[in-house]
Amino acid sequence: MIKIVTVIGARPQIIKAAALSRAISTGFKDKINEIIVHTGQHYDANMSQVFIDELGIPAPDYNLGVGSGSHGRQTAVMIEGIEKILQDEKPDFLVLYGDTNSTLAGAVASSKLRIPIVHIEAGLRSFNKSMPEEINRIMCDHASTLLFSPTLTGYRNLLREGFSAQNQPPFTSDNPGIFHCGDIMFDNSLHFAGIAEERSDVLKQWGLEKENYLLATIHRDNNTDDPERLRSIFSALNQVSLANNLMIALPLHPRTSGLLRQNLPAELFTSVSGNPFITMMPPVSFLDMIKLEKHARMVITDSGGVQKEAYYFGKPCVIARPETEWVEIVEAGAGIIADADENAIVLAATGYLNNPPVSFPEVFGDGKAAEFICRTIAGAAWK
Ligand code: UD1
Ligand code: UDP
Repeated sequence: MIKIVTVIGARPQIIKAAALSRAISTGFKDKINEIIVHTGQHYDANMSQVFIDELGIPAPDYNLGVGSGSHGRQTAVMIEGIEKILQDEKPDFLVLYGDTNSTLAGAVASSKLRIPIVHIEAGLRSFNKSMPEEINRIMCDHASTLLFSPTLTGYRNLLREGFSAQNQPPFTSDNPGIFHCGDIMFDNSLHFAGIAEERSDVLKQWGLEKENYLLATIHRDNNTDDPERLRSIFSALNQVSLANNLMIALPLHPRTSGLLRQNLPAELFTSVSGNPFITMMPPVSFLDMIKLEKHARMVITDSGGVQKEAYYFGKPCVIARPETEWVEIVEAGAGIIADADENAIVLAATGYLNNPPVSFPEVFGDGKAAEFICRTIAGAAWK
């Protein structure tokens, strides 16, 4: 039996963890024993517990209750907590997802204790080191022993940074194994799409008609914390909705809702709040979210996960960031990078409304990434 400790903390990691836990419980129960540690980076019920309940993730064995704070403090408290658990549990592997501060903390704690790290979503790069996530993911990749990349681009990024496809077991952090296995989020979208269709009444709840609304999410710190960028994005949302008489469903991350009034010009705040076409709502559950994605006409977002889910469901996506790690979406013509440029967002959205893309090649795997990862971990006889 291989013992793993999985660290989750932020919303997308909790969602990703559902795919691995599901694969373990359906095919690897007698081979992999998973202990789950929640750092508490996200803690509101609608940012955390809702996913654990809804997606069938086992209740975390530990919750560090770290909460919000500066990057340094938040990460430091997590490192201390994870270190203690690793010393007690002595797992064969620590499993980390993505690029959040919870990921970085796990990587620092585990590498110093010489516990091999499994990094899921390895190799992604924005080539923009002003993003905290870019630093977190580079540091985690370079401390890892098994690296699972969701895309060919991610895999090639690893090769370019000196990782070798020729390494053979026994793998170590000095002789890491790299794998291109597809995207664990795609596994989830495939698995939950039908369930969401049946169970979620989010469209009815918010008075939205299928194919007659646009879905938007904005939460990246460089957008929310910079008043000019936030103004530009919300002014664009206002224009797109009014010019096309099109509803916009806008589930707001608490970071964004907390800063909207403060960082938007008063006139724009009043205009957006009073715009009958813009429906701001609290963060929604994953089943509600994928139902919203599946029936939207298009998506405007600065989220990594939401960009990909839009693609899985065949929806065009305007990316409110200066770049994306998911370059395949842009290459397929299904995404346009508009940054926080008001005119570029309006232009891209209008273009997609009039002329939606037709081709969404399968570049995110076969929906069995979690199974591949479990097989690789379970087969680590070299451990
Ligand atoms: C974090 C990740 C980001 C990821 C996002 C997913 C880092 C550096 N960033 O960003 O990569 O895309 O999660 O959603 O790890 N807050 C609440 N309630 C909560 C959680 C947060 O009110 O349950 C508010 C707090 O004011 C907090 C702010 O949101 O200060 C930001 O939270 P934090 O976890 O620091 O970063 P995110 O912006 O969520
Ligand atoms: N998500 C959700 N409810 C919401 C917004 C997002 O369930 O109100 C899901 C979304 O479907 C995706 C994940 O959260 O699976 C993306 O997380 P987020 O946008 O917070 O972070 P990122 O992917 O940018 O790191």
